[in-house]
Amino acid sequence: MKYGYFDDDRREYVITTPATPLPWINYLGNDGFYGLISNTAGGYDFYRDAKLRRITRFRYNNVPNDIGGRMYYIKDGDCTWSPSFLPAGTELDSYECRHGMGYTVFTGKKNGVTAKLTAFVPLGDACELNRLEISNDSSETKDLTIYSCIEWCLWNAVDDANNYQRNLSIGELEVTGSTIYHKTEFRERRDHYAFFTVNADVNGFDTDRDVFLGARRSWDNPIQVENNASGNTVASGWYPIASHQLKLRLAPGEKKSYVFQLGYVEVPRDKKFESKGVINKAPALALIGKYNTDARVEAAFKALGEYWSDLLGIYHLTSGNDKLNRMVNIWHQYQCMVTFNMSRSASYWETGTGRGMGFRDSCQDLLGFMHLVPDRARARIIDIASIQFENGSTYHQYQPLTKRGNADIGGGFNDDPLWLVACTAAYIRETGDATILDHPTPFNNVEGSEKPLMEHLRRSINFIINNKGPHGLPLIGRADWNDCLNLNCFSEEPGESFQTFGPSEGPVAESVFIAGMFVKYGLEYADLCEHFGSKDEADSVRNEVGKIKKATEEYGWDGEWFLRAYDAYSHKVGSNECEEGKIFIEPQGFCTMAGIGQEKGYGRKALDSVKKWLVNDYGVEILAPCYTTYHVELGEISSYPPGYKENGAIFTHNNPWVSVAATVIGDAEMAFDIYKRSCPAFLEDVSEIHRTEPYVYSQMIAGRAAVHYGEAKNSFLTGTAAWAFVDISQAILGIQPTLDGLSVKPCVPAELGDYSVTRRYRGSLYNIRVTRQAGKSGLTVNGQAIEGNVIPVPAEGSTVDVICYA
Ligand code: BGC
Ligand code: NOJ
Repeated sequence: MKYGYFDDDRREYVITTPATPLPWINYLGNDGFYGLISNTAGGYDFYRDAKLRRITRFRYNNVPNDIGGRMYYIKDGDCTWSPSFLPAGTELDSYECRHGMGYTVFTGKKNGVTAKLTAFVPLGDACELNRLEISNDSSETKDLTIYSCIEWCLWNAVDDANNYQRNLSIGELEVTGSTIYHKTEFRERRDHYAFFTVNADVNGFDTDRDVFLGARRSWDNPIQVENNASGNTVASGWYPIASHQLKLRLAPGEKKSYVFQLGYVEVPRDKKFESKGVINKAPALALIGKYNTDARVEAAFKALGEYWSDLLGIYHLTSGNDKLNRMVNIWHQYQCMVTFNMSRSASYWETGTGRGMGFRDSCQDLLGFMHLVPDRARARIIDIASIQFENGSTYHQYQPLTKRGNADIGGGFNDDPLWLVACTAAYIRETGDATILDHPTPFNNVEGSEKPLMEHLRRSINFIINNKGPHGLPLIGRADWNDCLNLNCFSEEPGESFQTFGPSEGPVAESVFIAGMFVKYGLEYADLCEHFGSKDEADSVRNEVGKIKKATEEYGWDGEWFLRAYDAYSHKVGSNECEEGKIFIEPQGFCTMAGIGQEKGYGRKALDSVKKWLVNDYGVEILAPCYTTYHVELGEISSYPPGYKENGAIFTHNNPWVSVAATVIGDAEMAFDIYKRSCPAFLEDVSEIHRTEPYVYSQMIAGRAAVHYGEAKNSFLTGTAAWAFVDISQAILGIQPTLDGLSVKPCVPAELGDYSVTRRYRGSLYNIRVTRQAGKSGLTVNGQAIEGNVIPVPAEGSTVDVICYA
């Protein structure tokens, strides 16, 4: 069953009912000012940091959990309704929500009135625009009242929800004309304020929530709306909101449009006030002036569309498979932008109050983002490297606003350092810009500690070399990629954090997964040395890779698949000898990708075991059989009920590893099959089972052992976005950046047929046609056959025509 449909020409998913199984959301904003928006216009806005600069309030665990956000009421006689269904909740005569690239458009109709609400953040400015177009399609004159409403958050989202004894006394506002300014704490240490305005004269306003709503009422029927009234209240303390009242008369066929703007402004400290206690409104007025007419808003909306057309033109596929085309050309890349912007900080399932930017998460997000905006990728790599410690280990997370490592979680996740190598190498393969390796980058943000980025990568590599266990395999620390495999934790008390409890340093527990990573990324580092540094260092790192490869073949192979780990007692994890948790997906994917045991056929065997044990209808489960009891020596993994999360769900992030691994051993059928199983557009028809958005990946899909097999959870912010795009665009369709140029080496099943890809790469345009023709193989470039798969980089600005005979 579906709840909407894809409109590929407009790059939108069109939701046709507000009653989706869960809020189906979208993101507004590209760089700095962001909004989350659900298919009933719920959500919230923030500037840079969802925890420290929250602009509008969100109520956690609320029912419905997408109430709030942008609230618009249309009062037409006795009937009050909202164009996005909520908050009024009045049944509409028709409803439509179009989630597009950085914008969402709602169209609601009721009793002959149509209201279209377009929400987006214009490029380069810190504001959300809501354009509301109202038309009277009936044959009578309509006297309508529109109410807008947003609820201010008192900036720090955690404090806002905790510290009422202070917060309920500090709210401060100013109102001038149609603009309501939120200036809580501005009189003391904040140099920023927010405002909500409309480009029309208002009939009234309210900023005191209790006056607007009335006693014992909720957002669905505010007393002011019911009474067609406005109190012109200026709140002091308690719960500040911003609501405009606009009365309008529409003749039959008449149409009117309003632009609402929610803006954020920073003011230099010495220019904060116009006069005592009165804020300096000049920067706000400038921003308001940029978007106070329909024409200006239309131009900004068009610019946003053109921005996305340009970005999505960098990699564009034309194939006979519509689902594949829409994922590759639109939604994979869109989700990569969102994960790059958000890391794991703010979604409907990540509260924005907890995790900021994850080290390993952001490094992996970059893998799918590099090609879109390389300059932002470069800056991010430096930010991430700056939270690395001198010994090569790293903080696990940082706050986007401060860019400082998060001391609460600390470090000790021993896979982290290697992801820095992965994303830096990928950046250079994409851009050819090796100068990043020279960029002076601090350790732990300490001024004066700067070393070239290359030194950071070196320390990452050395960290693994210097931290091996009894089998010569890398020590796992608090956990590796699998945050829930906590082999040094031994937690017995409820509430203790599995991620931080106990020592991170275990001298014994080892990870076969990190071994696979080291082989893969150690070789990528050696290539960087060879190209841009020293051949001796390249040789010495390859030698170290050889050691870990050997150790993995000797101690990391279980006979039919790769082992997962050795625990703190040196017992095997993920072995046929175990009763539960016999086989784990991660090392099968990573060790095969890394080519470990290739000559002995380990990869083929490992992937056959994956098929036998782990593949289900919707993807590949993370392990089998699931743990049914708590294992103190394994940690959080065994805390989840069977079939959920890391205990046997399809943890979608690692499915592309298996798919890429299949291309490494040349199994095109398996690669594409695994890709399709968990791919959202391919699951659209079972949305009632899958339940999350059919246009983006969710973090997990419950496995066969779960009560709700097939149900997805935690949509949007997942490393799957980047890896799925890497898998399909590079490994399967085969268009892969290398240090020496673009490589074309597809691994596609016959069912896909011929296809073409246009790719902008290092300043040139590649038109690539992949075709099967009997007896033909290899590549021609501008009509000339070439040796191998890598196309030498042409002069910038070239157009390169490539035919690949697959
Ligand atoms: C989750 C993991 C997540 C971790 C973050 C765990 O509870 O299961 O998926 O990465 O928390 O701290
Ligand atoms: C989600 C986390 O964000 C990611 O870092 C981790 O690798 C996976 N969970 C698996 O535990």
